[in-house]
This record gives sequence, structure tokens and C-alpha cells, in this order.
Amino acid sequence: MSQIKIFDTTLRDGEQSPGCSMNLKEKIEVAKCLERLKVDVIEAGFAISSPGDFESVHTISQAVKECTVASLARSTEKDIDCAWEAVKDAADPRIHLFIATSPVHMEYKLKMSPEQVLERTAAMVAYAKKYCSNIEFSAEDATRSDLEFLYKVVDLAIRNGATVINLPDTVGYTTPAEMQSMIASVIANVPDSDKAEFSVHCHNDLGMAVANSLAGVLGGARQIECTINGLGERAGNTSLEEVVMAMRTRPDVFSDTFTRIDATQIYRSSKTVYNIIGQTAPLNKPIVGRNAFLHESGIHQHGVLSNKKTYEILTPESVGVRVNNIVLGKHSGKHALETRLKELGYDLSAEELLRCFEEFKVLCDKKKDVTDADLEAIVTHSATEESETTDGYKLDWFAVHTSNFTTATCTVSLKYGDQKFEDVSLGDGPVDAAFQAIDNIVKPVEHTFELYRINSVAQGKDTLGEVSVKLTAGNRTYSGRGLSTDIIEASILAYISAINKLRAATEKAGQEKEA
Ligand code: KIV
Ligand code: ZN
Repeated sequence: MSQIKIFDTTLRDGEQSPGCSMNLKEKIEVAKCLERLKVDVIEAGFAISSPGDFESVHTISQAVKECTVASLARSTEKDIDCAWEAVKDAADPRIHLFIATSPVHMEYKLKMSPEQVLERTAAMVAYAKKYCSNIEFSAEDATRSDLEFLYKVVDLAIRNGATVINLPDTVGYTTPAEMQSMIASVIANVPDSDKAEFSVHCHNDLGMAVANSLAGVLGGARQIECTINGLGERAGNTSLEEVVMAMRTRPDVFSDTFTRIDATQIYRSSKTVYNIIGQTAPLNKPIVGRNAFLHESGIHQHGVLSNKKTYEILTPESVGVRVNNIVLGKHSGKHALETRLKELGYDLSAEELLRCFEEFKVLCDKKKDVTDADLEAIVTHSATEESETTDGYKLDWFAVHTSNFTTATCTVSLKYGDQKFEDVSLGDGPVDAAFQAIDNIVKPVEHTFELYRINSVAQGKDTLGEVSVKLTAGNRTYSGRGLSTDIIEASILAYISAINKLRAATEKAGQEKEA
């Protein structure tokens, strides 16, 4: 059996795409999910791209024990030095360096001749190898590169010490047949190709990233680069959940291969990442969308009732989607909550459990039956939000007045440590009035309001409302989530969370400037 390694780049290629930026705590939360999923490699970031990226790659390298941790680097000494500094404390560090090899990239982006690219490849792989035994080399835009040239680049990279050769479809241009043939040809034509592992990294511009990655495996690739929910530049990258479940569901096609992935963690990981970036899965998203396992039409329902295999090629349970919805309520104690959360796959620390129990009790006062979907919302919310807001403003109370014939008004009282601040504002509806009142108190730096979204966590009119808010200032995005059966309260909580993150970043930038 050959192992197909899963290299996750949610924190690098995913995070660098518009609207998906994360702060340090959120990145650590994603890294924890990836470790639970048992990915082989976490690409934690692009260390040289910003001090924040360096810090997160460094912190994740120290925190993660079960996976290789990589940082991306361009093929320059400065980038490689920085990548090594960031990953050197990892249990298994990797430097991932790249250079473009297609004619259009070499001429217009790098302004280098093919000979210079060959020289740089050899020199920089050798330079990185002095630091680290685990070196991945990527020939950017490989699928639009001249094949004979690619053989030369790959040959030099391997001869100078690269242990993984990645051949990306950087612009999502190739087709499955071409990808399979390119990987197979490079393996067949580079003399020492058996000294390295081959990898694919596909973008989804034409909707073929998953298919192209799978074709790469058929061509001989043994590593797939992918992201949770397919996040990534433009139309995204190969989606981890889809590519893994395709191989698992079709062992007849991908015979004698396996991945280490614990598929039962897929749903939870997907939800965590969507929550952090303030998005939800499209209803029809394979594997993790709300409709992925629903059978609506009469003919399908009839078939599934007679035998699930008529229309179901994989089970919801296999990816961690629970279908038997046990209900808890106000008489359920901490032990019952802990037991149900364990059954749902959440093994929480005592502190995390206590935090969730407090939120659970608040919810029980508002809602008779607390469902699995509510519990999952509480757990993921508590993991990604609570620790963020401990130092910032907190909601004390609010009151709104709104009708269809007057202007909405909202009074908000916020606490900051021992201090209390109150403001009242009019607005274009109660949410606008509430946000205006918060702005009057906090006076955040100038920002743009990117996103406001309400989702219901489950069915039923007493369900939790989950509000996501995103603000941008400079080139950073600050997201916040709020959870409540009252959507105005959920909105206020989400906005305060995002504003707190914006304030913390502004303060940090100020301190860094002074230092
Ligand atoms: O898409 C791409 O080519 C990349 C490389 C840097 C690996 O992300
Ligand atoms: Zn990419």
C-alpha cells in the first residue's frame, strides 16, 4: 500500500485569499483541527511575508507535534533564512521553496532567463538543505511550463537535495489527463526521480482542482496539497474533504493507496474554518454542505429507505456528520453535556467544558430543547471567540426600540474592565443603530464593513442565530461571530468581537512602531 500524504495549505494559500485572513489565535485553532485530522504536513504560512505571518508559523511550529510544519519561501537566501527561523523548532520542520518555470512567468514576473532559473534552483535548494533535511521544491506554474525544461529543473532540485517535488497547476488551467501525463513523464524522465516524492497542488479556476489532483495520484504523485473547504486564491485550491473522500470511496480506482486522515474530523474542521472566516458552506457543497446527505425527491427517499446504498455512496457518519439528534435541556448537567460532546467527537479540557456549560445554561433559559447543532455551534464559537474577547469590550446590556413607522434606536452599555460606557444612537434599523452606538463608545480606527451575515444554526424558529461580521482596515480582515437566540444580541456580540480584534491589532501595530 502507498501512502498519499496530505499537505494542508489552508493557513498559507487559503489564508492569503481575500476575505479569509485569520489572526494568530484563529490560525492556532485551525492548526489544532489539522492535527486532529491527521494531515501529514501543515503549511503554516509564508514567514517572510509579514511579521504576523512569521509569528504564526513560529508559534504553530512549536505547538504542533504530530505533523510536519512547513513555511513557504521564494528562492532567495533572505526568504529561506526567514522560513528556517520560523520552522526550526518544529518536531519535523520543512522549508518549501518555489520558483516559476513557465515562459510567461520567467519572462514577465521573474525577468529571468531559463538558464538563470536553473542556476537559482540549484543554488537555493542547496542553500536550504544546509538548514534542513526536509526540502520541498515547487516549480510554480508547472502545468504551463515546457516539459523538457521541467525535467532539467526537477533534476537539479533533486540533485541538490529536494526531498519533495511539487508540480503546481498554479492558474487552474490543466485537465486531468494532462496532469496525469505530466507527473508520469517527469517521473519517467528525471534520472533520480525515485529519490524524491512527487506532489500536486491544483487551483480550481475551471472547477477541476480535485479531479486534477486525483489524476496526479494516478500519474504517480504521492502528496496532495489542499485546503479545508477548498479555500484559496481566486476560485480556491483542491478541497481536502473532497479529495480524501474520493480516494476513500473509490478504492477500486485508487487501489493500494491510503491517507492517514481521520475522516470523522472532517465536518468539525470544515465548520471551524467556515466559522472563523465568517462563511458557511454552500448548501450543495460536496461532503460538508447541508444538503450533501439529504434525499428530497420521492424516488430517492423510497430507494434510500429500502437500502441506503441506492443513493448514498458515503455515509454522513464517516465524515463526522451526526444524524441522531439527541436533545439536552435545562435539567441536563455538566456530565450529560460532557458525555454528549464526547459522542459528537469533542474532547474538551475542563476549562473549555466549563465555558461551554455556561453558554449552554444561558441557552437553556431561552430555548427548551438544545440540539446537537446548537451544541456544535457553542463549542466552535467558544473555541474561536471567547479567548479573543477576554481583554476587550464586553456587552453589558442593550435595549432597542424599533417599529415600521419610527426610526430605530438602540442603547448599548459596554464594559471595559471595571469601567462602563453607555451610548444611544439612531440607525437604519436596529442593527445599524446598535453598531453606531458601539462605534460611538469604542471609536475604532477607520475601517470598511465587509460582511454581515445571519445564519440559523438549525431548523425551528427558536434556533440560535449565528451572526458573522467582517471589517477591513489596511489589508487585514477582522471577523467576529455572535451566537444568541436573539439576532440583535448575536449581531452586537459579533460586532464587538470584530471591533476588539481591530483594536488589538491597531494597538499592537502602534507598539511595534514605537519599539
Ligand atoms: O499555486 C502555486 O503555484 C503555489 C506555489 C507557491 C506552491 O501556491
Ligand atoms: Zn497555490
